[in-house]
Amino acid sequence: MALAVVLLSIWVLLISPAHSLTCTSQRLTNNKKPYDSCLDLPTLSSYLHYTYNATNSSLSIAFVSTPASPDGWVAWAINPTAKGMAGSQALIALKSSGSLVVKTYNISSYSTLTESKLSFQTWDLKAESGANGTTVIYGKLKVPEKAETLNQVWQVGAQVANGHPMKHEFKPANLQAKGPLNLVKKPGSLTPASAPTPGTPGSPGVPSPDRGGQSMIRANVVGLFMGLVLFLVTVSAL
Ligand SMILES: *[C@@H]1O[C@H](CO)[C@@H](O)[C@H](O)[C@H]1NC(C)=O
Ligand SMILES: *[C@@H]1O[C@H](CO)[C@@H](O)[C@H](O)[C@H]1NC(C)=O
Ligand SMILES: *[C@@H]1O[C@H](CO)[C@@H](O)[C@H](O)[C@H]1NC(C)=O
Ligand SMILES: *[C@@H]1O[C@H](CO)[C@@H](O)[C@H](O)[C@H]1NC(C)=O
Repeated sequence: MALAVVLLSIWVLLISPAHSLTCTSQRLTNNKKPYDSCLDLPTLSSYLHYTYNATNSSLSIAFVSTPASPDGWVAWAINPTAKGMAGSQALIALKSSGSLVVKTYNISSYSTLTESKLSFQTWDLKAESGANGTTVIYGKLKVPEKAETLNQVWQVGAQVANGHPMKHEFKPANLQAKGPLNLVKKPGSLTPASAPTPGTPGSPGVPSPDRGGQSMIRANVVGLFMGLVLFLVTVSAL
C-alpha cells in the first residue's frame, strides 16, 4: 500500500513536465526572424508570439491556436475600446473556397460581425496550418503611439459558412479568452499580472506578462515541490 503511494508520487513527479510544453518550445515555420516574446494564453490552448517596435509603433504577431473542428476557425483580436469581444478588431483565419485565409472583421457587438477594414492599419496577413493541427495567423499591425497595454481577445470556432465564421461555444474557456497584452514590460520580469477584469467570475483570463515559458516553469517548480513534500510525507509514514 505504502509502496503504491510512493510509486504514485513518483509517477506524478514524472508526468508533470509534460505540462510544460509552452510557446517557448514552439517552432514556427514562417519566422525568418524570431519574435521577441511569447505568451501562453490562459485559455483555449492558444499562444501569442510577438515583437513590438516602439520606433514605428508596430506589432508583429504570430497567433497559434487550434480550430474547434478541422473545418473551423481561429481568431485573434485587439479591442481598442473595451476588454471583451464587443468592439474587437479581429483577424480570423478560416477556409474560404478551400484555402486558408485571414479575414479582418469589425465586431461591433456580440451579434454583429462585419468583414471590413480594421480601425488600425494591418499588413502581411497570412494563415498557415502549423504543427499538431494548429492554425497560425501571422500579421503586422499599427498600434497607438506610446501604447503600453492593449486589450487582446482570442477565440476558436467549429464552423464556417459561406466564408464567414459561425458562432463559437460559450463555455468558460471561450468566455475568458481575453486579457491584457503588455507591450512595454519586458518578458521575464516577475511583476505580478495586472488586476483581473472586474465583474468576470472565476479566472479572469489574464495572461502573465512574463515570458510564458517562465510562468509555466515556476508552476512546475511548485508542482515538483508539492510532489517532493508528498514523497517525504509518504516515506516518513513507512
Ligand atoms: C507538437 O507536439 C509535439 C509532441 O507533443 C511537441 O513536441 C511539439 O513541440 C508540438 N509542436 C508545436 C509547434 O507545438
Ligand atoms: C523598428 O522600426 C524602425 C522604423 O521602421 C526600423 O528602423 C527598426 O529597424 C525597427 N526595429 C526592429 C528591431 O525591427
Ligand atoms: C515598422 O518596422 C517593422 C519592423 O522593422 C516593419 O516590418 C514595418 O513595416 C514598419 N511599419 C511601418 C508602419 O512603417
Ligand atoms: C465598426 O462598426 C461600428 C458599428 O457599426 C462602427 O461605428 C465603426 O466605425 C466600425 N469600425 C470600423 C473600423 O469600420
